[in-house]
Amino acid sequence: MSDQSLNGPIPSSVNSLSGAATRTAAVLPAAGRGVRLGPGSPKALRQLNGTPMLVHAVRALARARAVSLVVVVAPPGGAAEVRALLDEHPLPETVGSTVEVLVVPGGETRQDSVRRGLDALPADVGVVLVHDAARPLVPVDTVDAVAAAVRAGAPAVVPALPVTDTVKQVSADAGRERGTPEPVVATPDRSLLRAVQTPQGFDRATLVKAHQRFRSPGEGATDDAGLVERLGVPVVLIPGHEEAFKVTRPLDLVLAEAVLARRRVNDGF
Ligand code: CTP
Ligand code: MG
Repeated sequence: MSDQSLNGPIPSSVNSLSGAATRTAAVLPAAGRGVRLGPGSPKALRQLNGTPMLVHAVRALARARAVSLVVVVAPPGGAAEVRALLDEHPLPETVGSTVEVLVVPGGETRQDSVRRGLDALPADVGVVLVHDAARPLVPVDTVDAVAAAVRAGAPAVVPALPVTDTVKQVSADAGRERGTPEPVVATPDRSLLRAVQTPQGFDRATLVKAHQRFRSPGEGATDDAGLVERLGVPVVLIPGHEEAFKVTRPLDLVLAEAVLARRRVNDGF
């Protein structure tokens, strides 16, 4: 099956403009290569304890009370494979509701991929959570808390943690050759810094507007809330969770599998 057929039109029943936009959906950008993780399959397809990272991430979102739709943004050319993986790995049972999962192909940058996911949302979605597939172990309580804060009226909500390392600022033109000493320009007050995570939650119209207004070339934005800030819309932080860390480098895989092992022990398996 081609990507195009998987990205086909959404049934008109869900595209209808009648009725309020009351649903909460999640967009899961999973189209990155994972260059920093080293050679291998696209990062979201790499396994953690035998299950692909993106399946862990979809399950984490599907467990949230509010989420009734997950749009997975697959690696370009990989949508059919992702659809097959999702069909092989069922979602957890949720009380009284089924979670719909759509798959669309991604783009060159994270920002492109998120925009493609937003384009696939049906009209009845009013709240959107954007969550990195590379944060497969986010606890359901964090997802629920972000969704609840948006549903309570905040247009943009971001989970965040205090920064533990001291951060140094360097100049934009500092020697970029690896190993070359870089002059330090400043040391920001660490107590005023936060490290942000996902899912980031938004009023749908606000996020769509931000993505339409700031289509940047190059790398694009690494964070959706940053685009919303540029619109002048307030963004608020709520407490994140250490298990919502991003799998970026090889050591993160070791940590993720250790977290899963600890959960298994605690859950009595
Ligand atoms: N992402 C995406 N489309 C892209 C690039 C990134 O959907 N073109 C997604 C990744 O799949 C990931 C999330 O955005 O879930 C966060 O990006 P990051 O951790 O940087 O993942 P990669 O871009 O895959 O990793 P790297 O930067 O090391 O290549
Ligand atoms: Mg990246």
